[in-house]
Amino acid sequence: MKSSRMVFVSLLLSCASAGPTSSGNTSGSDARPFSPEVNPFWGGRLFDKWAAITPTKLGAPAHERLKNLFGWDLRGTAGHYGAKYANKKTALPVNLLEDPRSTAELRNWLRDGGDGLPAYGDVLGPRELDAIAQFIDAVRSHRLAQPGDVWTLDEKAPNFYRLDAGGDAKRGRRYYAEACASCHGDDGTLLLFDGGEYTLGGFMRQKVYEGWFKVLAGHPGSSMEEQVPKDLGGAEQGRWILDIAAALCDRAAFPRGAGTAVEVGDGDLRCGGYLK
Ligand code: HEC
Repeated sequence: MKSSRMVFVSLLLSCASAGPTSSGNTSGSDARPFSPEVNPFWGGRLFDKWAAITPTKLGAPAHERLKNLFGWDLRGTAGHYGAKYANKKTALPVNLLEDPRSTAELRNWLRDGGDGLPAYGDVLGPRELDAIAQFIDAVRSHRLAQPGDVWTLDEKAPNFYRLDAGGDAKRGRRYYAEACASCHGDDGTLLLFDGGEYTLGGFMRQKVYEGWFKVLAGHPGSSMEEQVPKDLGGAEQGRWILDIAAALCDRAAFPRGAGTAVEVGDGDLRCGGYLK
């Protein structure tokens, strides 16, 4: 396949999923103003798995998913991927939620690399890099939900987290019916994930450290885009996600179904008091 054609297709795809297109210059010059119109949720999906969205150019290096460097909580080794918890070898000692760089500086760092980060400018264009930087900034400034709104690290819990207190499973059931059931089914069993291991209920009872991010930003390369209602502030988005996660702790209403992963047992710390 000709590489010029792949780049063209990739540009088309970027424009299609990035919301309103820029009327200005998108050549990538340093003097170009920061694009205000890129979609930070799209940036979140690129952070999750850029290669599922933007095809790799021929001969380009296979850089890591950014989530492998910083974790689903964006905290690097200070968070879920740190030595005390999941202990992921690819994680970097950079906590993006407390990083002092401006959004433009974050974008340039992503582009040029440094401090263990590869140069994503090798594989991503300026609009993609802007979107990722805006996603990081929106989460750290709490314009988008933060991981701490939904779950808290716990060394003793399976998968090293517990859902936060204060969620309302009844409200979450309603949100689920409105926002998720059309694709995942009334009981969350319509789609299986991770090679058949989990229904949605099974997944969210065991992997909210990842699931919170999917609900916020969407699942790259699938029909699932960002889910949180657009009129909510970051903390409210977090509560919305927590309510849904609490609802999905009901093993009868959202069963494991045909998922092959073992169901969580009574007293499991992840769902805690929400577990039914
Ligand atoms: C437009 C359809 C659609 C809607 C609406 C939707 N999803 Fe999804 N969702 C999908 C698809 C498709 C996948 C990817 C399945 C796969 O792995 O092939 C997915 C994946 C996921 C995953 C990721 C699982 C993994 O493998 O990492 C989670 C978690 C999830 N959805 C939760 C939700 C929740 C909660 C809602 C409602 C707030 C929701 N989804 C709304 C279609 C949808």
